[in-house]
Amino acid sequence: MSFPLYAPAEEHDMLRETVRALADEKIAPQAAEADETGEFPWDVYKALVAADLHAVHVPEQYGGAGADALAAVIVIEEVARACASSSLIPAVNKLGTVPLLLSASEDLKAHYLAPVARGEAMFSYALSEAEAGSDAASMKTRAVLDGDHYVLNGAKMWITNAGVSEYYTVMAVTDPSAGARGISAFVVEKSDEGVSFGPKERKLGIKASPTRQVILDDVRIPADRMIGEPGTGFKTALATLDHTRVTIAAQALGIAQGALDFAIGYVKERKQFGKPVADFQGVQFMLADMAMKLEAARQLTYHAAAKSELAMHGQPQKDLTFLSSAAKCAASDAAMEITTDAVQLLGGYGYTKDFPVERMMRDAKITQIYEGTNQIQRMVMARQLLK
Ligand code: CAA
Ligand code: FAD
Repeated sequence: MSFPLYAPAEEHDMLRETVRALADEKIAPQAAEADETGEFPWDVYKALVAADLHAVHVPEQYGGAGADALAAVIVIEEVARACASSSLIPAVNKLGTVPLLLSASEDLKAHYLAPVARGEAMFSYALSEAEAGSDAASMKTRAVLDGDHYVLNGAKMWITNAGVSEYYTVMAVTDPSAGARGISAFVVEKSDEGVSFGPKERKLGIKASPTRQVILDDVRIPADRMIGEPGTGFKTALATLDHTRVTIAAQALGIAQGALDFAIGYVKERKQFGKPVADFQGVQFMLADMAMKLEAARQLTYHAAAKSELAMHGQPQKDLTFLSSAAKCAASDAAMEITTDAVQLLGGYGYTKDFPVERMMRDAKITQIYEGTNQIQRMVMARQLLK
């Protein structure tokens, strides 16, 4: 009998060291400015591509590094420790391409995954709409067959890295009478005629990752750009989230680790009442709780990543849906608490932009909202428990 191992292998530890070194040298120094300007960090993208860390999950047969799900988690975690916005480069490249890996034809995979692996194109994922967020199946964007083409009309909202990505997995209704079973998934290119983008949303955090509408105005694409069969798009979209909620958990872990590390360094230096504030038990207990919550969430995330890896390779895991929601929920709730406590531990200085913890606290908040709010994660978990 064999059991899946989720303890990181030596290769994972080496990968973590590599990413941390790159993040310390090239990503952390630009994080505050990127947060301030809201500009997409192209230098970070180039550095990640040069190190082949921008989309490690792409299988070798499509020119990628072929790294496992735990490796992808470690990359995202370490980049997020330095800059949450930048961690959306590997995370969203994975989110955009998992629908293809799960359901697309070989031709589509070969055509679209290779440029991502080479760092020539990024891939976004477009499920949400202005009136269809948690209730994603109520989307209105339409795709109508016309000869050997589909014509897409509608607007996808909140799309991460919209405008900087070349490619988009777009979910659209092909049969309005069939509900969730009438939704199909397509690859849309930025250069397709009729594609445009809304203004950048003005956000609380992850400011250097553009969030924009993807507007589809009579976008005519070849019918073979459909991912899988007609009517399977919603299932592909949800099956994708089973894998990628783990990557949002990773982002949350990284943000939280960055805040904890900074707070530990600070409390050892900062003196009040004639001694470092780290000497006070009230401070020590806070640190212990922060690290405990983080490690618990990390173990859950790595366990979910191991399940994701097995499921990606032909071994369906009955508990993946539960575990990926649980990991995302636990890690994001932990990140919100840990970053808030980090601000607290820096006192008034923590509340200023002179230190990175206030940015980390703002960045942490989104992890409780996207890829399904944490209420939706709890709903998904409960459905799994009760079915
Ligand atoms: N895998 C495959 N299929 C699944 C599935 C899964 N995990 N979960 C459900 N399905 C199937 C169901 O079996 C059903 O198919 P049948 O009709 O053939 O049985 C179909 O999908 C519809 O399922 P439900 O009836 O459960 O669907 P629902 O309308 O009740 O919605 C939901 C389910 C969980 C609420 C879903 O809408 C959801 O997850 N909402 C949150 C939206 C979300 O997470 N958006 C993320 C956007 S991406 C993002 O935010 C980007 C970013 O982070 C950077
Ligand atoms: P709503 O669904 O309107 O929810 C409002 C409130 O009601 C929430 O608190 C919610 O939890 C609660 N609620 C709703 N239904 C229930 C229920 N049944 N039970 C209990 N509570 C409920 N989407 C993409 O497709 N691609 C992306 O790349 C992407 N990136 C994003 C980036 C950012 C910065 C943001 C803010 C969003 C992004 N999203 C993306 C969309 C994101 O997934 C949605 O915002 C999210 O799923 C919630 O949908 P909503 O905003 O419409 O909230």
